[in-house]
Amino acid sequence: LGNGLGRTPPMGWNSWNHFHCNINERLIRETADALVHTGLAGLGYRYVNIDDCWGEANRDYQGNLVAKRSTFPSGIKSLSDYVHAKGLKLGIYSDAGSQTCSRTMPGSLGYEQHDARTFASWGVDYLKYDNCNNPGTRPSERYAKMSYALRNSGRNIFFSLCEWGVDNPATWGSGVGNSWRTTGDIYDSWGSMTSRADENNRWASYAGPGGWNDPDMLEVGNGGMSMEEYRSHFSIWALVKAPLLIGCDVRTISGDALEILSNKEVIAVNQDYLGVQGKKVFGGGSEEVWAGRLSGGRVAVVLWNRGSSQATITARWSDIGLSSSTVVSARDLWAHATIGSVRGQLAATVAPHACKMYVLTPR
Ligand code: DGJ
Repeated sequence: LGNGLGRTPPMGWNSWNHFHCNINERLIRETADALVHTGLAGLGYRYVNIDDCWGEANRDYQGNLVAKRSTFPSGIKSLSDYVHAKGLKLGIYSDAGSQTCSRTMPGSLGYEQHDARTFASWGVDYLKYDNCNNPGTRPSERYAKMSYALRNSGRNIFFSLCEWGVDNPATWGSGVGNSWRTTGDIYDSWGSMTSRADENNRWASYAGPGGWNDPDMLEVGNGGMSMEEYRSHFSIWALVKAPLLIGCDVRTISGDALEILSNKEVIAVNQDYLGVQGKKVFGGGSEEVWAGRLSGGRVAVVLWNRGSSQATITARWSDIGLSSSTVVSARDLWAHATIGSVRGQLAATVAPHACKMYVLTPR
């Protein structure tokens, strides 16, 4: 969307994957604090996004959405003031239907202008817009209404389409939003994560600055996968220019999970200004090579072992878009080590469910 936002994929945190409906204003404030003191905010994780269940069951007598009095007694404006004072941004959630997915609060269908103005008046910076309880009309129409309303709200708001890939949003999303989900919900398991990666991969050519494919939020740190699996999850999400929205409890995050999410070199691949989505370029059984162009003629490569035994995986220059005579230096983004000069192909031994990630710079 040409609103100047999302020139690189958004980074931040969202309440859903870990907390579901168990959210309140203290959690949001403590998460903002934790993003700052863990150093994550400084690395770019700036959006603090409230998901479903933040509102009262009914609008007030003027038709306004109201923050749930029992859990968000200070209201959303006071939360946005709080996160803005820390240099962060606030995201909120609504739905292009009569109620949100939890059915605990109203959706914005038919109230697009009204709600967009409310969000703007609260200082909201990001809207995630879900697709439950809709009347069966086309998402492109319902989402375009909110897009228009946001653009006329008086505040520049990142617009995240969460319609789970219905009607192939990659093909129309860039005129409507800054990101669009390409898949159903992710769960904290290897099987779910790998299938989201594959489904999202089909739409690679549609992503770019201002509009990104979204294979759903990160599960790193939630406990259902091994650290190698989480490292694969994070590496692939970074390479495919997915939104990097942390989905764990940042207040109690483990050192291992924090280290994964804090890898500056992997984040830099995601935030490369060229904005080219990396994709699967070779898949022979469970050995995969994913690659994508970066600025400055560089190439990012992930050697991904999706099988259950150790494997040697090879990225051939012909598969990753380099001419056969090109000599590169290869930076290993997880070992933080550089291999001086490599030509023709790059091979490495990769543990089960693990990956190796490199940036190749032609010399
Ligand atoms: C479905 C979305 O895909 C999830 O990310 C989350 O927002 C839930 N709805 C909330 O009900």
